[in-house]
Amino acid sequence: MNYEHVQEAAAYVRNKLARQPRVGMILGSGLGGIADEIESKVEIPYREIPHFACSTAPGHKGQLVCGTLSGTDVLCMQGRLHYYEGHSMQDIIFPIRVMKLLGIETLIVTNAAGGVNLEFHAGDLMLIEDHINFLPNPLIGPNDAEFGPRFCDMTYTYTPALRELAQQTAQHMNIPLRRGVYMSVTGPSFETPAEIRAFRTLGADAVGMSTVPEAIAASHCGMQVLAFSLITNMAAGITGEQLSEEEVIEIGSRQGHILCALVTAIAARL
Ligand code: HPA
Repeated sequence: MNYEHVQEAAAYVRNKLARQPRVGMILGSGLGGIADEIESKVEIPYREIPHFACSTAPGHKGQLVCGTLSGTDVLCMQGRLHYYEGHSMQDIIFPIRVMKLLGIETLIVTNAAGGVNLEFHAGDLMLIEDHINFLPNPLIGPNDAEFGPRFCDMTYTYTPALRELAQQTAQHMNIPLRRGVYMSVTGPSFETPAEIRAFRTLGADAVGMSTVPEAIAASHCGMQVLAFSLITNMAAGITGEQLSEEEVIEIGSRQGHILCALVTAIAARL
């Protein structure tokens, strides 16, 4: 990745901000509501930022929203970039590296996912404890040593202390929070029932088309990561119902406010 491009984008964003954000956020399908809670906000459309790719996915707005969330200075990606849209992995992790240059140390990521664990239900929230990556690794290519090592450790990608904080906060707010392994796939077709059975055997609890590239890039450059899935549907073949994008967006907007409340409360404690 061209380091100067990352610097140019970071300089553009920095010039628009009155304060330095400490926490970065990436909001998934139908979960952009957190951005509405941000105070003293500055909105920067991706298309204005040098070298930034634009998001086209449904339920994704395509702008940075910066400001204060429960007293914490945040920079929030309202709308993310997906591999299935045709973006390169380099484009997908570019914003993470911009966040790094802006001084962000903690990344909070939310996504919509299908439930693979048979004990889950649509509408459940899951704290991501670990992942299984079936997308291409975003660090393939020459190593960008300004950001991190060639071979980066992934043992504690989803920061244990942040997971503990999330669980305590959820308990305190009486929000039921599942825990599990997120499996990332390319999409855009949903999985087949046979794939879902295979993924369950492999140890997946939820499946989705995002998050892992950003988590890998964040981990590579030394950021702490906290990630949640909103289970918008049970994965293919479990209920016999067919899957649809509308259902994902619908549950996202119906249940998303609970995840928003949780993330807002966590931001207050960071
Ligand atoms: N599979 C993959 N991605 C998803 C799903 C699913 O069932 N639901 C929401 N995102």
